[in-house]
Amino acid sequence: QTEAEENLRSPICCIMGHVDTGKTKLLDCIRGTNVQEGEAGGITQQIGATYFPAENIRERTKELKADAKLNVPGLLVIDTPGHESFTNLRSRGSGLCDIAILVVDIMHGLEPQTIESLNLLRMRNTEFIVALNKVDRLYAWKAQRNAPIRKTLKQQSKDVQNEFDRRLMEVITQFKEQGLNTELYYKNKDMGETFNIVPTSAISGEGIPDLLLLLIQWSQKTMIEKLTFRNEVQCTVLEVKVIEGHGTTIDVVLVNGVLHEGDQIVVCGLQGPIVTTIRALLTPHPMKELRVKGTYLHHKEIKAAQGIKITGQGLEHAIAGTGLYVVGRDDDVEDVKESAMEDMKSVMSRIDKSGEGVYVQASTLGSLEALLEFLKSPAVSIPVSGIGIGPVHKKDVMKASVMLEKKKEYATILAFDVKVTPEARELSEELGVKIFIADIIYHLFDQFKAYIQNLKE
Ligand code: GTP
Ligand code: MG
Ligand code: NA
Repeated sequence: QTEAEENLRSPICCIMGHVDTGKTKLLDCIRGTNVQEGEAGGITQQIGATYFPAENIRERTKELKADAKLNVPGLLVIDTPGHESFTNLRSRGSGLCDIAILVVDIMHGLEPQTIESLNLLRMRNTEFIVALNKVDRLYAWKAQRNAPIRKTLKQQSKDVQNEFDRRLMEVITQFKEQGLNTELYYKNKDMGETFNIVPTSAISGEGIPDLLLLLIQWSQKTMIEKLTFRNEVQCTVLEVKVIEGHGTTIDVVLVNGVLHEGDQIVVCGLQGPIVTTIRALLTPHPMKELRVKGTYLHHKEIKAAQGIKITGQGLEHAIAGTGLYVVGRDDDVEDVKESAMEDMKSVMSRIDKSGEGVYVQASTLGSLEALLEFLKSPAVSIPVSGIGIGPVHKKDVMKASVMLEKKKEYATILAFDVKVTPEARELSEELGVKIFIADIIYHLFDQFKAYIQNLKE
């Protein structure tokens, strides 16, 4: 290895695509986990992160190419939701990554959020690979666990091969209609101009070796400069959550730089910047999803790129989706605070200025933004007068109760993916503030609509 090759960080790869194309299942297949089956409604509603060390990738790809050169330490994969309500989380994921996997269901072809994801990637000039997933669903497909795709395709019957070719051609045509050239990766003579397609199955693992190897090789080939480790900390908060035994923690993606236990940091909070110190730096075990509760490894320091859980005082007010800043020896804390608050401005600008509307509460800035976006859409059109992040407390009920005199039906809290404290519940019943809770965005709308209908009758 040359010196440059030794100083590479892991590429960050975002997995995107339409709902239920198999993004989480593909990651489960690589990890040997079962995250997807534990999801509410079988849909992803958060951004997750998983670290795949190079040795695991080596193991998974050796049948395809035993002597492949893996110069990067590993791969950090970010899972995103495909449901239409989560444009914001897709945008956040695509904004963080170096390379992406765009998952297309071979039985469905291009779908609305495939195209949306494609446009997000093109907007930022992000390299991506198309995973043409669920090949095992082709009629009479004979699965060979974890086989490289060419090997398994060769062993299918003529009918299956024809059906595969027909569906592949259809997808290539659909991409062409979006102004994009695509081709099966092993037939692609013009990589760079023509995007690669890798057929996969998240159930049988077929094509996974091809997908992993191509991801690593393509990253190493085209983005050495971008992947060269830099000391300057670049870090984004993904989630804020309470973990038993650890208190409030934040999940972050460290893109560059090193974080240490005891570092002074600044993150964006709903009530202003939060200045605190890193109490503990935790990661899940390699090949485990950061967003799923498990056991954690403690670190004195961590080098990018990694998905990390940080504990520290005051972090319960941190807002997901915003940047994390380290106060360096020569930095003025006031300047750092100002930088940290930039991200809040865009969310605040979405609240109804007339002051009439429901109160919405969500678990993260990302889900709050998604909820605001959804409530604003013409088909829904529910005005919002106040927002909160995290569990619903008495103070939130107090704020929502202001509407009792203005517009009674708006004295309502739409709580998405958050808990309601018993005291808040009690107060809401006392005051007559309605609280609707749901862990699927559009269920909130259904409940609220039924409530309004009821009031009218
Ligand atoms: P969202 O995150 O909600 O957008 O969905 P997703 O893209 O992560 O898809 P998910 O992993 O939730 O899979 C959706 C469904 O498709 C599940 O029932 C999976 O078991 C199934 N599925 C995923 N991949 C495959 C595949 O390769 N073959 C078959 N037969 N089923 C699959
Ligand atoms: Mg998913
Ligand atoms: Na799903």
